[in-house]
Amino acid sequence: MRMRRKKNGEARLQAHAHLLCPLPAEPIADYAEIFGRSAPLYLEIGCGKGAFACGMAAANPDCSFLAMERVHDVVVAAVEKADACAETRPDNLRFMIADAKNLEACFLPGSVERLYLNFSDPWPKKGYYKRRLTYRGFLRVYFRLLCEGGAIFFKTDNRGLFDFTLEELSALGCDLDYVTYDLHNSPLAVGNVMTEYEKNFSEKGVPICALKVTKPKDFAFEEKTEEGDAQ
Ligand SMILES: C[S@@+](CC[C@H](N)C(=O)[O-])C[C@H]1O[C@@H](n2cnc3c(N)ncnc32)[C@H](O)[C@@H]1O
Repeated sequence: MRMRRKKNGEARLQAHAHLLCPLPAEPIADYAEIFGRSAPLYLEIGCGKGAFACGMAAANPDCSFLAMERVHDVVVAAVEKADACAETRPDNLRFMIADAKNLEACFLPGSVERLYLNFSDPWPKKGYYKRRLTYRGFLRVYFRLLCEGGAIFFKTDNRGLFDFTLEELSALGCDLDYVTYDLHNSPLAVGNVMTEYEKNFSEKGVPICALKVTKPKDFAFEEKTEEGDAQ
């Protein structure tokens, strides 16, 4: 997401410091230290301006929702939105400024219950496929971080990225819990929380693709398929 540099960005961010999870020096051992209570962790990667994070945290008061975004000024917009939202609770929503490349430096294996990827950058050029957040190198990391029974949820308007994702999951031997090429006209639309991009695309009549995949029980975590898997 491109964004003009925000005036006083750092000061504006710090005005909402209570909603920030600082980049940890070591993987987080106990999420209660961040949220002030223990609850299953839902992690969103590439949260943009935070509409989904705010909506999900409000709809799921019994989870701890951590929204990760690598662009500082986008997080400024997200925390301002979260604080302006009457439903934001003090104990279940935090934002972290971090790159998905560093996930394993932030989170321990088996410590995440749900992982959300929404409208991830498609990186359409062939040579950039390893940058896609649904490249198998990233997927392996996500599965390592997920607990038994944990799942990845992915939504996109981009059919090319969606088909690529299906191929990557198939290459890893994953079975899907569900897949739809038109989320909003499917039974899965009930309770769906929209992201900013989703709202924008669906208003233009673009169908939204979505899938859910549960962490495979016998996943071969150590196996690497290509040099520099997640980069
Ligand atoms: C196309 S936008 C979608 C934003 C939001 N999820 C939505 O659906 O409205 C993708 C977002 O992912 C962020 N992003 C891309 N790659 C990332 C990475 N490696 N780590 C963290 N965030 C990333 C971008 O900065 C951008 O804000």
